Amino acid sequence: MRSGWSGTGTGSGSLLSEIDLTDLDMWQRGVPHAEFARLRREAPVAWFGEAPPNSGFWSVHKYADILTASRDVATFSSARGISFEDPTDEDMAARRTIIDTDPPEHTKLRKIVSGAFSRRAVAVYRHFVEGLTEQVLDAALAGVGAAGHAEIEFVDAVAKEVPIRVLARIMGLPENKLDLFIDLGDRLISNTDPAITDVVWGRDQTDAYRKYPFRSPYGKQLWDLGREIVRERLRSPGDDLLSRLVAAEVDGERLSQVDLDNFFSILVIAGNETTRIAIAQGVLAFCQHPEQWERLRGDPGLLDTATDEVIRWSCPTNFMRRTATRDAELGGARIRAGDKVVLWYVSGNRDEAEFAEPDRFDVGRSPNRHLSFGRGGPHLCLGAHLASLEVNVVLAALARRVTRFELAGRPLPIRSNFTNGLRELPVRLRLA
Ligand code: HEM
Repeated sequence: MRSGWSGTGTGSGSLLSEIDLTDLDMWQRGVPHAEFARLRREAPVAWFGEAPPNSGFWSVHKYADILTASRDVATFSSARGISFEDPTDEDMAARRTIIDTDPPEHTKLRKIVSGAFSRRAVAVYRHFVEGLTEQVLDAALAGVGAAGHAEIEFVDAVAKEVPIRVLARIMGLPENKLDLFIDLGDRLISNTDPAITDVVWGRDQTDAYRKYPFRSPYGKQLWDLGREIVRERLRSPGDDLLSRLVAAEVDGERLSQVDLDNFFSILVIAGNETTRIAIAQGVLAFCQHPEQWERLRGDPGLLDTATDEVIRWSCPTNFMRRTATRDAELGGARIRAGDKVVLWYVSGNRDEAEFAEPDRFDVGRSPNRHLSFGRGGPHLCLGAHLASLEVNVVLAALARRVTRFELAGRPLPIRSNFTNGLRELPVRLRLA
């Protein structure tokens, strides 16, 4: 999910030697939007070298090329992993989740869970998410003085509280383990940030954990916890998603232990971190664009387009990677079988060929065919309807209570080129 090494552009001239998309110092200063704009103009599909043991990658910057690659799963495979890492076949077999599979295997796995995440199925949770959000906001704003101002660290107080509790409800996770799930998810997804984990990618891994998620002891810990919960569900099944996974059959057979481990970990990680990022980055955008907050508050009919715009703007997952199964042409580049191909959704979301004034945060934007959930291929985010519902409900609740957001300190981005998360977002809220 990251490249902990500094690579240097080697493919097409001086531009690529100036820009290094694996330079985490650059990412920690913020998403390199200006660099991506240059790449879209001057090197839409470019080869970047990486330091060993990695092999280099094709870097795809334009919306149309990303869509082409996403659609062509026979050429651009997910089965060699979706991060910068080059895992061995053995590692891959041990920790392959649904996201690292191609059809027909992918189709079978997806069928088990797709019903639970359809638009209709998740709409049932709206009432629950509304109640939960009110509780979270009550707690976050408790003790606010008569002046009607509150200063909170928004990530901890609000953004991180909602998604994990929604997942807990859907999957049937035990309440007393939720903080641990958040912590483990952080240590895995943000494994290039030494402020978040002591097992930093490219620095601290040992081969001992190479068969666990993210090659990490925290991946093992997550699996162990999952196994405990799955065992419990086998003893007393309920109507939650884990009970359904445990009972599911593919080609007449129950899921293997490894499949269950991996399903559990991807659902807990993918469903939690990403939505938290969208909510926190959304509030940061409203701190920086107060007129858009006023506009949304003045017209609740904008809630749905505002939700899409927050998700486009925040782009919680910067990229997904594919691997070419055969020689191919993409955006004028000649890709060889075996090459890694990195699809920068964060760049496609700002592509001027698809979006009018892409650098404008516009709560009324329509159409808004953003790439934040992927697009065009079978891996389109399973939780897209659920995540949109959560963002929508949180925005609506905030719009009722908050008249203005202001920064009360410096937002702290996570040191990563994979996730667009914030470690901290100190905000001052003016309350209605
Ligand atoms: C704003 C929040 C979210 C964002 C931005 C997001 C983003 C993504 C992206 C980019 C992908 C890969 C798409 C591709 O390969 O083209 C993905 C896949 C996935 N997401 Fe999400 N996600 C979010 C929320 C969720 C939630 C709430 C869940 C619920 C459990 C979830 C579960 C998954 C799963 C299981 C996959 C793999 C799907 C497959 O391979 O078929 N995500 N997500």
